[in-house]
Amino acid sequence: MKTYPLRTFVHRILLIRLGIAATLIAICAGFITYVTQERQIRQQVADFGRKGIVALTDRVRDAFVDQPMHPYEALRQILTKGDIPVVYHAGRFVEVQFYDKTSAIIAESSVSDDEQAIELRHCMASQPFVFPQPGQIQVKTIPIGRKPFLFLVMPVTDRQGAVVAYARGFFAISSEKTAEIRQTIIRNSITVIAIVFLVTALLYPVILNLMRRIADYSTSLLDANLETISVLGSAIARRDSDTDAHNYRVTLYAARIGETVGLSASEMRTLIKGSFLHDVGKIGIPDKILLKPGRLDESEFKVMQTHVNHGIEIAGRCSWLRDSVDVIKYHHEKYSGGGYPDNISGEQIPVIARIFAITDVFDALTSVRPYKKPLNFEETMEILEQGKGTHFDPKLLDAFGTIARSLYDRYAGHEGDELRQELISFIDKYFSAGLEILRHGS
Ligand SMILES: [Fe+2]
Repeated sequence: MKTYPLRTFVHRILLIRLGIAATLIAICAGFITYVTQERQIRQQVADFGRKGIVALTDRVRDAFVDQPMHPYEALRQILTKGDIPVVYHAGRFVEVQFYDKTSAIIAESSVSDDEQAIELRHCMASQPFVFPQPGQIQVKTIPIGRKPFLFLVMPVTDRQGAVVAYARGFFAISSEKTAEIRQTIIRNSITVIAIVFLVTALLYPVILNLMRRIADYSTSLLDANLETISVLGSAIARRDSDTDAHNYRVTLYAARIGETVGLSASEMRTLIKGSFLHDVGKIGIPDKILLKPGRLDESEFKVMQTHVNHGIEIAGRCSWLRDSVDVIKYHHEKYSGGGYPDNISGEQIPVIARIFAITDVFDALTSVRPYKKPLNFEETMEILEQGKGTHFDPKLLDAFGTIARSLYDRYAGHEGDELRQELISFIDKYFSAGLEILRHGS
């Protein structure tokens, strides 16, 4: 697991999360801008189309009102001139048809090329003959080929407002207008996206500063918590021996096994805390039993067993230490049963307690005691093997067997600052650098 100083970790996490958030917001904002703009501009073009067809029908009405000819004839004459107007540079009508009240064509005009005219007429014929009320215009966009056309329908009225004909036409948006629309939409969408990233960039140092303050505060809290473990572990160690080297060694052994069997970072933290504090409950055992040089009798052993309960009480009061109770409570259980305090077996015993049981015995056998000399590596492993499947979890013992020699050479019988430094590097790896709260958002 790669580790970083906490401040760097915060910086990286913030950079990644803000980057993702800003990108998502920019995509959404850009999309909404695009859709809104497109709708507004299409509306604008539709308005041009409406104005165009109104202008055209006005001209038709003027013609058949002013001239003494049949209105349909006036209509044909106007359209035959082929001067369908360009509408405000937005485009022009490319196909127009006028109908009588029976929907029969009375006049038509086309300024599109032949191929397109056929397509437009075919499309127009396929549209239902539904006409709006006088004064109203029906507009819809129909893509033909790869170009959008506005299809407009309106009644033509005389000056008294009576319907004399109906008009339907296709309005083609000019290529200049199409390019202008595209440019406007792209420019506005890019502007919105740029604003999102700019705001994010401005917020970044503010948020980073706040996050770093929280990270610094968390670090100092973590240091205080780790000092609590160290003080508690040392306090009991000083009661029954001169040093707390046993706590450091068993914690290092346990952490190495934990890594070998692939415990999660969270399990590693629990294992490290629990290993260091496994015998904290001995603080409640009377001196005459705790420090008795000889073998304990049955009643004394029963009192000694209560160190597990004392440990649970002590660690259980601290929320930060509470998870370590799994090691404190179960480190004297045996894989096939027969241990204490609950006489549970197999996988009922938490894996971190099963790991710790191996390291506790390994260190006891390889260490000097007032009543015994240390055993060498081979003798120690032979005894552990005898407990395989009874005292110890066979799979975990096998995993330990793969690293036991190197651990023995590196730590067995060692005391002093080197152990402390080794443990600090584990703590840096699993506690200081973790800040798992930020990583997992829990
Ligand atoms: Fe113990």
